[in-house]
Amino acid sequence: MKTRAAVLHALDNHPPFAQSQPLRIEEIDLDGPGHGEVLVRMTAAGLCHSDLSVINGSRPRPVPMALGHEASAVVEQIGPGVTDLSKGDRVVLVFVPSCGHCLPCMEGRPALCEPGAEANTKGTLLFGGERLHLHGNKVHHHVGVSAFGEHAVVSRRSCIKIEQDIDPVEAALFGCAVLTGVGAVVNTARVQAGQTVAILGLGGVGLCALLGAVASGAREIVAVDLHDSKLEIARSLGAALTVDARDSDAIEKVKAATRGGVDHAFEMAGSAQAMEMAYRMTRRGGTTITASLPSPQTNWSLQQVSLVGEERTVKGSYIGSCVPQRDIPRYIDLYLAGKLPVNKLMGERLTLAEINRGFDKLEGGESLRDMIVFPH
Ligand SMILES: NC(=O)c1ccc[n+]([C@@H]2O[C@H](COP(=O)([O-])OP(=O)(O)OC[C@H]3O[C@@H](n4cnc5c(N)ncnc54)[C@H](O)[C@@H]3O)[C@@H](O)[C@H]2O)c1
Ligand SMILES: [Zn+2]
Ligand SMILES: [Zn+2]
Repeated sequence: MKTRAAVLHALDNHPPFAQSQPLRIEEIDLDGPGHGEVLVRMTAAGLCHSDLSVINGSRPRPVPMALGHEASAVVEQIGPGVTDLSKGDRVVLVFVPSCGHCLPCMEGRPALCEPGAEANTKGTLLFGGERLHLHGNKVHHHVGVSAFGEHAVVSRRSCIKIEQDIDPVEAALFGCAVLTGVGAVVNTARVQAGQTVAILGLGGVGLCALLGAVASGAREIVAVDLHDSKLEIARSLGAALTVDARDSDAIEKVKAATRGGVDHAFEMAGSAQAMEMAYRMTRRGGTTITASLPSPQTNWSLQQVSLVGEERTVKGSYIGSCVPQRDIPRYIDLYLAGKLPVNKLMGERLTLAEINRGFDKLEGGESLRDMIVFPH
């Protein structure tokens, strides 16, 4: 069949993207679903910094690639061997398909699935190959999802069926921002009621971490960003103290307010500077967690004696250390119960044709989670 999707043809693109148009809306050929795959019609897709990092070349992927990875969709057609999904089912797509058989999968860590990671690096579906073609040439899948398109063929293992009555546009948020941000707090860090938390970087991921910290009963939440508008929304969502990262005494302010630093500092900004700051805002015995994915050339340094003498922990968190089948329904229930108001971080609703302008906004650092909404 033919479908329309936003295709990236080259890396190293420069803003303003509304002018350079790195994403071209193309009419592409989409094969039918193979064994263990399904054809879905996209409902909504969020603009995440991880897409932007492919567009601007900071995290290169094979091109041409149909981009996008945070989405909700409706199942249109079932491939052979799929017995537990039906036409019409509503799903949230997950950007690491998990095979269920490799060591990390067996250990209950599907976010680290080895065949899933390999397929994502190559730009194929989980069981290999591409279902997308343009003028007879293959187009790569973005992390098994390729959400900025009207239709996609995805592995069954990329789909989480949703039973709840949730706004389908809001449901898309659960595929990346919520899974990553809330999961970093509840799964990776396991924040306990009464502990103190700092969040550095208040994009979709950082704001979800903030909501996760509120839901976990954190005693005091500190929010750090470069933009006043972000600090303002953080206060409205439950941050007791907000700090401009450019403040020369930012670290001292946080240490003074939290009697020596926070139990858990989350770096969600995507920069080495923020990571070093997060480490310095963490108290003796505390944990510094990062979920950000800067370029592979990014390194940061830490003072080893503090790691040892103060028994610190540094942790990476990929897709919020999730078990998607367990966590997505759980977070949706929390949202529907009013305990995780992720709808408050929804930004502008865009059409597919407006996607490059959306990435200009994300690059500017002030947008909330802007969403491509597909017409029915
Ligand atoms: N681990 C995962 O599974 C996963 C999933 C999704 C996104 N990510 C990564 O998480 C990061 C955040 O994603 P996002 O979509 O929320 O990004 P975003 O661009 O929406 O938000 C980033 C925020 O960080 C702020 N910021 C930038 N530099 C800062 C600094 N030095 N100090 C404090 N704040 C600073 C910006 O102003 C912005 O508000 C990205 O690196 C993205 O690639 C990781
Ligand atoms: Zn993402
Ligand atoms: Zn696996």
